[in-house]
Amino acid sequence: MLRHRGIRSAIFGLFLGFLLGIFMSNYRDINSPTSQHVLQRPSPTKWSPLIQNLNTNISSSSLAFVGVMTAQKYLDSRAKAVWETWGKQVPGKMAFFSSEYSQVPENCPDLPLVALPTVDDGYPPQKKSFLMLQFMWNNFADKFEWFIRADDDVYIRTDKLEKLLRSIDSSKPMYIGQAGRGNSEEIGQLSLNYDENFCMGGPGVIISRETMRRIIPHIKECLKNLYTTHEDVELGRCVRKYAGISCTWSYEMQSILYHNSSGDQSFTGNLKRREVHQAITLHPIKNPPHMYRLHNYMRGLKIQDLQQERVSLYQDIYSTANLLGKDVDEFIRQPLARDVELFPHDLDAEDYLNNVEILGLPDGLKSFKPRSAQEVIPWDFISKSEYSLVDSNPRRRIYSHVKEGLEDITREVMASINSCSRQRGRVVEERSTLYGYRRVDAFGADTVLDLLLVYRKYRGRKVTLPVRRHVYVHQCFTGVEVREVVNDVEVNRKDRESQKPSNSIFSRNFLFNYPDIDQQDPVEDKIIHFIVPLFGKFVAFERFMNNYEQICLRSKAKTELIIVLYPHQTENSFDNTKQLLSNIKKKYLSAKIDIIDGSGNFSRARALDLAVSYANMADLLFFIDVDITFTAEALDRIRLNTIIDRKVYFPIVFSQYDPQMVYKNSENHDFFVINEFTGYWRQFGFGIVSLYKKDYLKIGGFNLSINGWGSEDVNFFEKAVNSDLTVFRAPDLGLVHIYHKVECDQQLPPTQLLMCRGTSTETLASVYTLAEIINRRPEYLRFAKVKRSKLSRNVGS
Ligand SMILES: *[C@@H]1O[C@H](CO)[C@@H](O)[C@H](O)[C@H]1NC(C)=O
Ligand SMILES: *[C@@H]1O[C@H](CO)[C@@H](O)[C@H](O)[C@H]1NC(C)=O
Ligand SMILES: *[C@@H]1O[C@H](CO)[C@@H](O)[C@H](O)[C@H]1NC(C)=O
Ligand SMILES: *[C@@H]1O[C@H](CO)[C@@H](O)[C@H](O)[C@H]1NC(C)=O
Repeated sequence: MLRHRGIRSAIFGLFLGFLLGIFMSNYRDINSPTSQHVLQRPSPTKWSPLIQNLNTNISSSSLAFVGVMTAQKYLDSRAKAVWETWGKQVPGKMAFFSSEYSQVPENCPDLPLVALPTVDDGYPPQKKSFLMLQFMWNNFADKFEWFIRADDDVYIRTDKLEKLLRSIDSSKPMYIGQAGRGNSEEIGQLSLNYDENFCMGGPGVIISRETMRRIIPHIKECLKNLYTTHEDVELGRCVRKYAGISCTWSYEMQSILYHNSSGDQSFTGNLKRREVHQAITLHPIKNPPHMYRLHNYMRGLKIQDLQQERVSLYQDIYSTANLLGKDVDEFIRQPLARDVELFPHDLDAEDYLNNVEILGLPDGLKSFKPRSAQEVIPWDFISKSEYSLVDSNPRRRIYSHVKEGLEDITREVMASINSCSRQRGRVVEERSTLYGYRRVDAFGADTVLDLLLVYRKYRGRKVTLPVRRHVYVHQCFTGVEVREVVNDVEVNRKDRESQKPSNSIFSRNFLFNYPDIDQQDPVEDKIIHFIVPLFGKFVAFERFMNNYEQICLRSKAKTELIIVLYPHQTENSFDNTKQLLSNIKKKYLSAKIDIIDGSGNFSRARALDLAVSYANMADLLFFIDVDITFTAEALDRIRLNTIIDRKVYFPIVFSQYDPQMVYKNSENHDFFVINEFTGYWRQFGFGIVSLYKKDYLKIGGFNLSINGWGSEDVNFFEKAVNSDLTVFRAPDLGLVHIYHKVECDQQLPPTQLLMCRGTSTETLASVYTLAEIINRRPEYLRFAKVKRSKLSRNVGS
């Protein structure tokens, strides 16, 4: 009998001896549904709920017991979401209370469940609520200071809850919640006197041990004398009658225990809001995925707090060293006391990335002192637009990320101004930001804002005043974090070190230099199949093959090359191309190079699709053009960022400006010099892709009815974004598009010709270079002047 499934997890109450008898009669065999009929219903006096998983995790904290009221039909959704998010962080214990025959859901076998006898899942859940309190008291009266009644659609920030509860004396009778008196229709129907209230159930009700001690003996009477169908109203009545207290009459409670009245839509939008940040409990979250989302958001806030704390610690170390008159670098190497190191980790390790001398610099806009005019970091001016000296677009709209950053600052600043509003009897509200300045340097971001505020004094002589305040904010950087991920799975540093020689691309490149090893490498061993559609362009192709030889063939990199060759009508390079390839094959006998003959009119989409049709499902494909030159690091990134069934990599390629414009001597320049004078990022180019054939098919392949060069890549990118694969897109420093002149066919219609010329001049050089050329040539300026005066005369006449 004892080996029977389910018995081990079903522990009845605290006293096993006493309960064993009832247990035999109450035990329900999960495997045979018929046994339900012979089940003996426990009489209400013998209190024997079915409890599962409740004692498996005894928390070290005895602060609070949280009872969540739920129902059988929500156990595998809402209850599971609560248990898997904030439920496991409760400073104390949590249990879910449901109807008599409720079962732990299969998708969450460790859910602590109490199936209350004689209780059903009907509405209103008055009996469930009262019997839940009774259960908590009967079993845990002396174990917890606080008892919390929660719904399955509430989110509780357990760290803030703990802070609040530890600041209140639980030996006093307390009944904490958001006080309610019913809405306008209910006035007069709840049998409440004008000075009576109740704690609204939704956002959570917190009851002290003393209150519980007073009401529990009378629970039965309360349950017998219900005036309304509202469970929270009745609990309030019971508490008032037998504990002699009412729900906390506090204005603040509506922001601490926050209820949003948008119903199903609550907390589904932007969470960066004051009410979300201030709250301890948030209600209602009707849809479980949003519970996880909210939890994730809260964990993000927690990370920010911890990072803030870490920066403060760095600052402490830095300033202590300075106070002691010691060199920081020396100071951090000395132990604090015998056998107590300041930093337990080896500071000389190459992977130790955080630098006390930078991160510890005291806050302030003047931490960095420029020694010369060149070192001065200019400020941007912000009002309706943003103005800056260094941007090629000196006056521009405020970008959304900057706007969001400014809003964050304002919200944090207002929260800190108002943190002691209660003591001072005033609140300060934000009206608008009049203007500001902003700059980013190596130590962080600095912001100066001129805020228009409203100052309201509500204690003593009441005053409302508009005020202006300057805010000076320095936001520090937080140091570098490194996660090593292989095929989307995080690699544990310790594991990696234990199985040396390492199989990781990072350690190979940056940390150690192991000689070649035979071990299988999950990333290195991926073979990249280059697919190059080719249509004329022999000169570019020669350069491409030269590059391919340098990077792939000489070093025996794991790559294969597939050329899809189309004959060009005018450029007669078909044979030269074949000759070049056969020479290469003779030189590198092991090189895998295939030529596929394309037929019909050239179409990039059809060419790539043709090559894909020869590949195997598990082949890693890399669509590249002959104009692109690449480095070995780009190959690493392709291997790391392309994961079968999961991730497709669309690198952003750097596009060169005309080298004749950029360099005095355009021969022999380095292709991989990347800055705003040498080229620009092709943010809207989606042609270069790496992915597995399987995923190419899953996305749906190219649209083969698109001819020539053109929108096939955008179309494919859109389909990839809409697929369930992850699209990884980032600038790749190892992929450069070599400049070639854009020829505009004079036969084109005028508008298209104009557009073509526009594109061709845009890729010529940076605005800065062009401006310099014009400034150096007075005749250009004269020409422009004449032209402009002609224009204005025409307009004037
Ligand atoms: C609960 O206990 C089990 C087994 O002791 C353990 O594996 C699990 O991590 C614990 N869960 C929590 C939230 O502590
Ligand atoms: C709360 O409700 C208001 C009004 O119904 C809505 O505009 C707001 O977006 C909601 N807040 C959150 C965080 O969902
Ligand atoms: C190739 O293009 C030409 C001119 O645009 C067209 O007349 C011809 O039908 C096309 N051939 C094929 C096979 O599509
Ligand atoms: C493919 O492209 C053609 C021409 O641009 C378009 O008419 C057609 O709707 C596209 N087909 C799909 C499936 O997107």
